Amino acid sequence: MTEPAYDLIIRGGRVATTTDVFEADVAIAGEAIVAVGRGLGPAKREVDARGKLVLPGGVDSHCHIEQLSAAGIMNADTFESATTSAAFGGTTSVISFAAQHVGMQLGQVLKDYHALARRGAVIDYAFHMIIADPTKETLERDLPLLIRQGHGSIKIFMTYDRLKIDDEPLLDILVAAREGGAMLCAHAENHGIISWMVKRLLARGYSHPKYHAISHTRFSEAEAFNRLIGMAALVDQPIMIFHVSTAEGAQTIRDARGQGLKVFAETCPQYLFLTADDLDKPGAEGAKWMCSPPPRRKDDQEALWKALALGDLQTISSDHAPYRFDETGKLRAGPNPNFKQVANGLPGLEMRLPLLFDAMVSKGQLGLEKFVELTATAPAKIYNLHPRKGSIAVGADADIAIWDPDRRITVTDAMMHDLAGYTPFAGRSLQGWPVTVLSRGRVIVESGKLNASPGSGRFLARSGGEAAKPTGRLVADMSPEQNFGAKLL
Ligand code: URP
Ligand code: ZN
Ligand code: ZN
Repeated sequence: MTEPAYDLIIRGGRVATTTDVFEADVAIAGEAIVAVGRGLGPAKREVDARGKLVLPGGVDSHCHIEQLSAAGIMNADTFESATTSAAFGGTTSVISFAAQHVGMQLGQVLKDYHALARRGAVIDYAFHMIIADPTKETLERDLPLLIRQGHGSIKIFMTYDRLKIDDEPLLDILVAAREGGAMLCAHAENHGIISWMVKRLLARGYSHPKYHAISHTRFSEAEAFNRLIGMAALVDQPIMIFHVSTAEGAQTIRDARGQGLKVFAETCPQYLFLTADDLDKPGAEGAKWMCSPPPRRKDDQEALWKALALGDLQTISSDHAPYRFDETGKLRAGPNPNFKQVANGLPGLEMRLPLLFDAMVSKGQLGLEKFVELTATAPAKIYNLHPRKGSIAVGADADIAIWDPDRRITVTDAMMHDLAGYTPFAGRSLQGWPVTVLSRGRVIVESGKLNASPGSGRFLARSGGEAAKPTGRLVADMSPEQNFGAKLL
């Protein structure tokens, strides 16, 4: 008897890409998709996908895992718990952070985070390198080597007391990113405005979590975007602006892209589904909804959906940053902390895709192809993981989520697989759920159970790729002043 040609066939589902939805079987041999077509087979194993949607596994390009926060608090998850929760939510690749703090040697930071991920991850992972201490050694000795070793993106913070990078060193980092061919990602908010607001609010006794949203004024976002965009244009370095939360922020990005600048941007479910009112709960409860930037207003949500439709924002990530609602996390300063004492961040790896599927596919906002694009294909392309990740195509890794479009669930804290102990989306009723999930051909989630061992995820080495390449405007159509800046590189 001859061996079946394929290890596994996903039979009879509706396959979706960024451009098409069609009925097909997907055949897998080893770790890769080897055929997409009708009547494929035989295979050693079949998964019946009739009535289901067969989608690329999600790529979550912004999540904080087993990471020290700006205030020095370890977040609630390990790589094992975070990537397990990602898998249950239909996500099969994550880009998390290797976070330098002041005084740390960047090479050692990378070694430490690699060791954590190697031990725990159940899905594939890559790293953005957070630079908080841009010394000569960091920028000239460590960074070029680390980029060459497969870390094709850098992240900086323009706010947070212990991490923030001022304008002048930020220009140095932009130039270093340009020289290494890496993408520069940024948390862009005006530190001075926030800090000024925090001091005055607290001095007048406004300490409840809801004042966190007031301290991060809307203008602090657009101002920092604008400043960052100007600096990136000066040295012709592509940038990715993280977690856009306001209409003005989205408009600033639209204007920059309209000028031909290479500015990419993301938003997150918390800015599409939550508002600042969610922080207004009795006692410290609102701390569970505290993240930076904060959730905003209904009209911001509408502006962000429009920006997604227009392509001004290209990806939706979770910004998973889990802290327990107890003395290890949100309540580290006691049961009634002032808002400045509360760790910023929300758990979101597991709910990112189900929330978006419900809104985009079940309720029809932007549709299935755009869901695939924003949550899998576009992040894979921007961060140079495509064509290996982010699409259902012959030759791609068999990272696949099979969705039951009819399954209805009500979100509860108890359903979550991360270690935060709560989800900010509890109580919502959603339609559509990822019932079976494959990572490199292994069925890792099935019948509500995980079937993957810690450490079975692999590091995804990548260069900055096409998105991180400068536009060449330094020599083309720049103003004399900008050209003079360019001569100083
Ligand atoms: O509140 C957030 N987003 N915490 C995580 C760190 C960051 O700002 O991205
Ligand atoms: Zn951030
Ligand atoms: Zn973040």
